[in-house]
Amino acid sequence: MSSECDYLVIGSGIAGLSFALHAAEHGRVVVVTKKRADDTATNWAQGGIAAVLGDDDSFEDHIADTLAVGDGLCRPDVVEFTVREGPAEVRALASLGVAFARDDEGRLDLTREGGHSKRRVAHYKDVTGSEIQRALLAAVERNDRIRVLDDHIAIDLLSMAKYGGEPACFGAYVLENSTGEIHSIVARATVLATGGAGKVYIYTSNPDVATGDGIAMAYRIGAQVANMEFIQFHPTVLYHPHAKSFLVSEALRGEGGILKRADGTAFMDGYHSMGSLGPRDVVARAVDNELKKSGADSVFLDMTHLDRDFVLSRFPTIAQRCRNLGIDVTRQPIPVVPAAHYLCGGVLADSTGQTTVRNLYAIGETAYTGLHGACRLASNSLLEGVVFASRAARAVQGAQLVRPDHVAPWQSGDATDSDDAIVVALNWDEVRRFMWSYLGIVRSNKRIERARHRIELLRQEIAEYYWDFKVTSDIVELRNLALVAHLIIDSARRRKESRGLHYTLDYPAKNSRARDTILHLTDGPPP
Ligand code: SIN
Repeated sequence: MSSECDYLVIGSGIAGLSFALHAAEHGRVVVVTKKRADDTATNWAQGGIAAVLGDDDSFEDHIADTLAVGDGLCRPDVVEFTVREGPAEVRALASLGVAFARDDEGRLDLTREGGHSKRRVAHYKDVTGSEIQRALLAAVERNDRIRVLDDHIAIDLLSMAKYGGEPACFGAYVLENSTGEIHSIVARATVLATGGAGKVYIYTSNPDVATGDGIAMAYRIGAQVANMEFIQFHPTVLYHPHAKSFLVSEALRGEGGILKRADGTAFMDGYHSMGSLGPRDVVARAVDNELKKSGADSVFLDMTHLDRDFVLSRFPTIAQRCRNLGIDVTRQPIPVVPAAHYLCGGVLADSTGQTTVRNLYAIGETAYTGLHGACRLASNSLLEGVVFASRAARAVQGAQLVRPDHVAPWQSGDATDSDDAIVVALNWDEVRRFMWSYLGIVRSNKRIERARHRIELLRQEIAEYYWDFKVTSDIVELRNLALVAHLIIDSARRRKESRGLHYTLDYPAKNSRARDTILHLTDGPPP
């Protein structure tokens, strides 16, 4: 079945839904989301959204902090407009109904996070993301120009290159999970807002949906992707056998939490002048170093010196989750370890989200816009999501539909395979384990080469499987995950220096000139 709309949005987090709400003012929007519409990384975001909102803050300070953490790779013009447009975007979210925390006089309560010189993170307790997601979804549901297709996964983008035309995107093939039917959805502009790819790693703070789908699809039709080696590892994910992917927000350190060894000694002052609130790359490497030196399973985040009532009212969700696992955060330090958290690279996009392929846009974590450079400043990601959603929604008005007369139906094998589930699960597990071991916080040439051999073998196996058997969402995700792993490995191989989030034992110093790593289809083996 084929259908048509003005704007096709793939992904339903802050970037995708914000774009949909703006774009619905001038066109019909379809939002495709592969599980439930609130199954997003946004919904899991704890910290908040950074913007210049405090009396003691300035655009110059927020810009300087972003550039310092980005370690020479941020695009200064992008940082400048994103920071300047931030306050209006936060106010727009508040007008939409997001209940940001406020003081008794109604002023926004601003918290601090790593790398910020000022308090500038607007939040809702310790569940800011789910509050934003709730408000955006409620607004989308009230809007009859937006249609949300949940339980639908995009398989591949529709490209004019397949029809002998210039490279231009005109929609996507989409699998309806409940029926197994594959639809083509044709659109004037297609917007990738599929989030990041934390599931490439065995330990991650991300939800299961974070499999890099948008990046893989864009790369397959020839879009350029940039700086995929910059994976941000969050230093404090809860360490407990029954706690899967549970983040312990940096806001705890912003409010006075201290990182300690098992013997109770604080260690961050030896690594950075901002101590436990240093930039995230520095803190994650420090924790990794402490764990390797001591052989311990975790380090600890200590909140026990802070006022009990404050901790419980400011961080109710984290406190409850820990309590369920037998940890009273007001009396016991919280065991934490680093885990993959955020992809700073992505589909190369300009200041409106336009990619290098006509009529294809990328926004939010899926994109590389130049805001984050080599390392993202905490809570700048929700900010990027809303700023670029507004900009892209203005830009797509000018998109002209380029499409063939007849859209070829999707073609793949029809056979089903009884081994399907087990093969997919084993391949998935293998990728995630070797990526953690070889492309983690500390890298080396030898580790990167090992990963390269493994990923190419796996991708061959997946490709055969992909074309011989009937397509399922598990196979679609595995194919994307393996391609994204390949892009991370290839980018890491090309960077012969240590900068920001990319640290390698073979090139511990930083080059004098900062360059982006840009890949596109002709640079590697076919996906
Ligand atoms: C956190 O709450 O620690 C995460 C904030 C972020 O990743 O920006």
